[in-house]
Amino acid sequence: MGRFDEIHARSIADPSGFWGEAAEDIFWRKRWDKVLDDSKAPIYRWFSGGVTNTCYNCLDRHVEDGRGEQPALIYDSPVTDSKRILTYDALRLEVATFAGALAKLGVGKGDRVILYMPMIAEAVVAMLACARLGAVHSVVFGGFAANELATRIEDCTPKVIVSASCGIEPGRVVAYKPLLDKAIDLAKHKPDHCVILQRPMEEASLVPGRDVDWQEAVAAASPHGCVEVLATDPLYILYTSGTTGQPKGIVRDNGGHAVALKWSMKNIYNVEPGEVYWAASDVGWVVGHSYIVYAPLLHGCTTVVYEGKPVGTPDPGAFWRVISEHKVGTLFTAPTAFRAIRQQDPEGEHIGKYDLSHYRALFLAGERCDPDTLAWAEEKLDVPVIDHWWQTETGWSIAANCMGIEPLPVKPGSPTRPVPGWDLQVLDAEGERVEAGTIGALAAKLPLPPGTLPGLWNAEQRFRDSYLETFPGYYETGDAGYIDEDGYVFVMARTDDIINVAGHRLSTGAMEEVLAAHSDVAECAVIGVHDRLKGQLPVGFLVLKTGAERSDDAVVSEVVTMVRQQIGPVAAFKQATVVKRLPKTRSGKILRATMRKIADGEDYKVPATIDDPQILDEISDSLAHIGYPKSA
Ligand code: COA
Ligand code: AMP
Repeated sequence: MGRFDEIHARSIADPSGFWGEAAEDIFWRKRWDKVLDDSKAPIYRWFSGGVTNTCYNCLDRHVEDGRGEQPALIYDSPVTDSKRILTYDALRLEVATFAGALAKLGVGKGDRVILYMPMIAEAVVAMLACARLGAVHSVVFGGFAANELATRIEDCTPKVIVSASCGIEPGRVVAYKPLLDKAIDLAKHKPDHCVILQRPMEEASLVPGRDVDWQEAVAAASPHGCVEVLATDPLYILYTSGTTGQPKGIVRDNGGHAVALKWSMKNIYNVEPGEVYWAASDVGWVVGHSYIVYAPLLHGCTTVVYEGKPVGTPDPGAFWRVISEHKVGTLFTAPTAFRAIRQQDPEGEHIGKYDLSHYRALFLAGERCDPDTLAWAEEKLDVPVIDHWWQTETGWSIAANCMGIEPLPVKPGSPTRPVPGWDLQVLDAEGERVEAGTIGALAAKLPLPPGTLPGLWNAEQRFRDSYLETFPGYYETGDAGYIDEDGYVFVMARTDDIINVAGHRLSTGAMEEVLAAHSDVAECAVIGVHDRLKGQLPVGFLVLKTGAERSDDAVVSEVVTMVRQQIGPVAAFKQATVVKRLPKTRSGKILRATMRKIADGEDYKVPATIDDPQILDEISDSLAHIGYPKSA
């Protein structure tokens, strides 16, 4: 048995012993009563009775241990041509003072605070300030529109919302404040206050009495200490796409999260305290929460907050410039970023312009890593390229190549093996385990390790229904795939209506809800089709009402605008086609999988249950009009 196998086996046989030991690396004000609390199984809790503070573990303890002068955060923004380095001392002071400002606005333990921020240092400051107060932050990605923000405001009822006047996308300034004002108008719940960081590229007008200027709030505040919280108290809520327009509020707790993320830094990423670790993602996604903010700081690393893109800011050498300038040891990003770089610099000529001698490893996640992209990155960078699989729900990897335990041979197309703590199985429709190599539902035997979701915000029944019902005793990942004879996991597809666009998780069901609201649309469907750059792109099919007032083209362009306005530009919904009818089974289920195969140019069988096979030819013709399949 190799070292990895031994450690994995122990984590499954004795989870309490395993994670109890890992928890020694975290500072506790009071130790836990129980490592694994199974009193409410199948809902498990970790470190119940333990008292700690996540912000203390991220900042204060490192300052007390002598890291005060080490950079904690490097803000690098090619889109504003600015950079800023905050040491642990400086970051602690900024966070404590902003926590003081929030406290003055009435924010206390358990209160929710929504953050709608671009990729700037203040986004991290605000997250940690909430953690310091024991308040629960909920970060909403800047690429979401007012409607999506409103849904989240209503669901988590924040006392305060923190935002900035604008975000910067290449070639345009995105004014956040009008979106925020509109969201507050739309939502039934109203926050008491909004704290607005004014950026010089576009200043926002403030609502007297409600809105507070960030700088003024900070100038009038004094630093606040760390508030003791229970390990099982919520640290944050992060909304993610479900199968409907109502997103799921994934809850993360304080104790288990800190233990698991700290453990992951050495064992999965093989990173030592003091090193520079860069996750090129966004604080609006789980990767940003876990690996821009919490894990690197829990581990005493320097984290990089990058406000830019892999290409175009200014060129496909942007990542290599950041790596060389800040001596980054480990980069974590999504495969789509590499596909974008490769598209513009196929020979990797920009790589050679920089000194990458400190650079050791590339980690990829967020979507399936196609073997082609993996091979290109390995060849051009000459460092290990590690695909790893996880979800917003899990907060850290389900499967990975644990570089700090024992690097295993890479199999292209596989995120390697289930990580310690994960008893992953492949199940058939009846919930029976299948043989190696057979595709089925990927499900993890309960209890899940620490750091994973203990539930959904105010929605326990939905939590049970969504994840625990189908396979009793297991967590249903929503991904399908197989495990081969060597125990390697292959993640092939989602089993639900979720698609993955440039590493962003989106619900086709939510887009269908928007399309269906158009007054000329009788029926619709949205599918995710293959895209060389973004992995998948949404395509809409519209059946118009008899006597529809507008032309087909007008309706298409109107629904495109509606999705952009109601879900946001991040949905990348730009293509739709009008069809006479949708292919359905005799029981009325839309045959989305068959439509996707036609769009992708794959072979398909005419389903035996289809009510009229002729419709598939009509779908094929409509798709041809908008250029699908691409390879044809
Ligand atoms: N605020 C406002 N708008 C945003 C935004 C933000 N924070 N982030 C993205 N958008 C907008 C973009 O400007 C774009 O708008 P457009 O339709 O007007 O062009 C749209 O949302 C889609 O954005 P994106 O998916 O990022 O596509 P892109 O074409 O701008 O860039 C990549 C393509 C591959 C370079 C980019 O997706 C990327 O860097 N991906 C990395 C993946 C990643 O970080 N994943 C997170 C999980 S690890
Ligand atoms: P998110 O919650 O946004 O992180 O998206 C999670 C989903 O992205 C997973 O359920 C998978 O469908 C997909 N995903 C993430 N990482 C990988 C990976 N390494 N390989 C395959 N799919 C992945």
